[in-house]
Amino acid sequence: MTHESLLSVENLTTVFDTPAGPLPAVDGVDLSVGRGEIVAVVGESGCGKTVLSLSVLGLVPPPGRVAAGRVFFAGRDLLALPERELRAVRGARASMIFQEPMTSLNPVLTIGDQVAEPVRTHRRVSRAQALEAAGAMLAKVGLPDPARRMRGYPHELSGGQRQRVMIAMALILSPELLIADEPTTALDVTVQRQILDLMTHLARDTGTAVVLVTHNLGVVAQTADAVAVMYAGRLVEYARVGTFFAGPAHPYSQGLLASLPRLAGRGGRLSSIPGMVPSLSALPPGCHFHPRCPRVFGPCAGQAPPFFTLPDGRRTRCWLYG
Ligand SMILES: Nc1ncnc2c1ncn2[C@@H]1O[C@H](COP(=O)(O)OP(=O)(O)OP(=O)(O)O)[C@@H](O)[C@H]1O
Ligand SMILES: [Mg+2]
Repeated sequence: MTHESLLSVENLTTVFDTPAGPLPAVDGVDLSVGRGEIVAVVGESGCGKTVLSLSVLGLVPPPGRVAAGRVFFAGRDLLALPERELRAVRGARASMIFQEPMTSLNPVLTIGDQVAEPVRTHRRVSRAQALEAAGAMLAKVGLPDPARRMRGYPHELSGGQRQRVMIAMALILSPELLIADEPTTALDVTVQRQILDLMTHLARDTGTAVVLVTHNLGVVAQTADAVAVMYAGRLVEYARVGTFFAGPAHPYSQGLLASLPRLAGRGGRLSSIPGMVPSLSALPPGCHFHPRCPRVFGPCAGQAPPFFTLPDGRRTRCWLYG
């Protein structure tokens, strides 16, 4: 993998230490994102999307820890940086929108001061100037009546409004890299569209690289350039969006796509993948997906498949292509 990408994740492995030993929540993930590119990360609940996002910015809380791998950002390995330097990158050049807005907002700071905080920390401006920038950003993310809301506190806002405050904080310094973990889940469709348009414009106009974590394949189709599919901590498919929606390679990806209502059969029945994502303490051997896979055959339970590159450029970890 080249380092020309703004973000280049190599063999990233994050484990949770338990009495039973280390459990791999993220297992050998390779991923790269170029400037101005939007890469969506998809997969069912528990597949490791959030742990991957947190790992990239060195934010995994104990008992989790990055056990292996490197994360190159603009040519430097973030995971090898001293915490001080990492903190300088985080927030200014690389920022994250967290999945849980309430736990990441400070309950005793006003909305205005919170959104202005990155500006005050990383730029030499007055409080008034920082607050003005915060107000403008809150208007951009569609918070109603931002001038009044800025003087209020997080508990006075709805879930969707809090999420927009988080988004404003993450975008206010025009980061080079944005990691957005389910940024629009709590928002209604109109506001969701507005936020996704905002992220798309950031990518196109200012060259921000975006990692967009989402459950919503409709959002992926409308927003992303490439798709990375995760299953049980591993990346199982990586493809350009057009190629992916024309027909994904991995049976897991095919199952995800088949569960989209728009593509379901005439009866309108949702076909979903039978079975459940395995727990980290009971991962099946070989390909972790094999017990649920409709195409399972000889080698699947034996050895984990490596990545195979198909003629159309997509990469998939499935023995069908071996
Ligand atoms: N603090 C923790 N301790 C132990 N295991 C954890 C912890 N946090 C997450 N995990 C495990 O790591 C795996 C990946 O979790 P993660 O939150 O990354 O999933 P996700 O893909 O983001 O799911 P969702 O779509 O529900 O947000 C899961 O098996 C989860 O149980
Ligand atoms: Mg998550």
